[in-house]
Amino acid sequence: MNLYERIGKNKISAVITDFYKRAFEDTFIGYFFFNKNREALTKSQIDFAIGMLGGPRKYSGQPLEKAHSEFTIRKAHFDRRQVIMREVMSEHKINKVDLEEWLLLEENLRRLIVTVVDACNHKKNGQHQVV
Ligand code: HEM
Repeated sequence: MNLYERIGKNKISAVITDFYKRAFEDTFIGYFFFNKNREALTKSQIDFAIGMLGGPRKYSGQPLEKAHSEFTIRKAHFDRRQVIMREVMSEHKINKVDLEEWLLLEENLRRLIVTVVDACNHKKNGQHQVV
């Protein structure tokens, strides 16, 4: 059974719905969503998540890279999203294995979404890390 089958459409929808309620109000990332249509975004991201988790691919929004390119999304913003997702998934009693697998799939999208390299990024082996 894939993640979509294990978690189920209803729970995936509930997680994304609650995630956006929280993200819109969040002190750290809420401002990105100023004047955005929460209902439309929720719907679009439910479709995206269902496809990503192994369900039917119904997502018809912009490619992720394009959808986020106008914003200045830093590593810390992405990290904050993951913290909120983790909290919401736990509240919906998604089991630990499924929760980590879902977050890992999102983690793989980081490079498409983080649009800036931090001003004070770290060097490793003499090279700047893309953060
Ligand atoms: C794995 C992480 C993420 C995923 C899977 C994701 C997914 C999406 C999707 C599917 C859309 C809708 C695009 C469309 O319908 O055309 C969207 C829009 C958006 N996302 Fe993300 N996103 C992620 C991370 C973030 C982060 C970290 C931020 C900012 C902190 C962010 C801010 C936004 C905003 C502001 C929009 C609205 C774009 C618009 O309508 O102009 N996203 N995202």
